Amino acid sequence: MSDELNVMEVLKYPNPILQKKSQPVEVFDDDLAKFVQDLFSAMRVHDGVGLAAPQVGVLKKVAVIEYDGKSYVLINPRVVDQKGIQDSEEGCLSFPGIYAHVTRPQWVKVETRDINGGTLELEAEGYTARAFLHEMDHLNGKLFIDYLSTLKRNTIKKKIAKHTGGHF
Ligand code: NI
Repeated sequence: MSDELNVMEVLKYPNPILQKKSQPVEVFDDDLAKFVQDLFSAMRVHDGVGLAAPQVGVLKKVAVIEYDGKSYVLINPRVVDQKGIQDSEEGCLSFPGIYAHVTRPQWVKVETRDINGGTLELEAEGYTARAFLHEMDHLNGKLFIDYLSTLKRNTIKKKIAKHTGGHF
């Protein structure tokens, strides 16, 4: 209970911050390390596989992923190689209860910084690759519904508007 009080809130679509581009991290200090730990905490509490900084209102290129017992930190990440194709259902903590099929590469190699500022390459495939790419999209203000047809996207928007009482 006390843990939960300190956990960062996850912004929900259509919060406009979710569609803004994040800035690269330039300072690798204790505040960054603390922020990465806070992202992991929020992701775990909300039962997510990944969480990106803009989802907690911070427009910095930082994201965390945890899947199949492995944790990954992405800072200023970029895709340097990709192979194959996969098509399966995907969700997002900023879209509770919404899932849609998204086509993505099956395998990716990503260049990223670690929390000390070092550069490293990470490889991911299958669902982990999907999570990497989904979180990296968040850092560019891109959302998984952006991959859908206008018709499907509008259906989702209407569903969310009905749920929140908002207008589009
Ligand atoms: Ni997401």
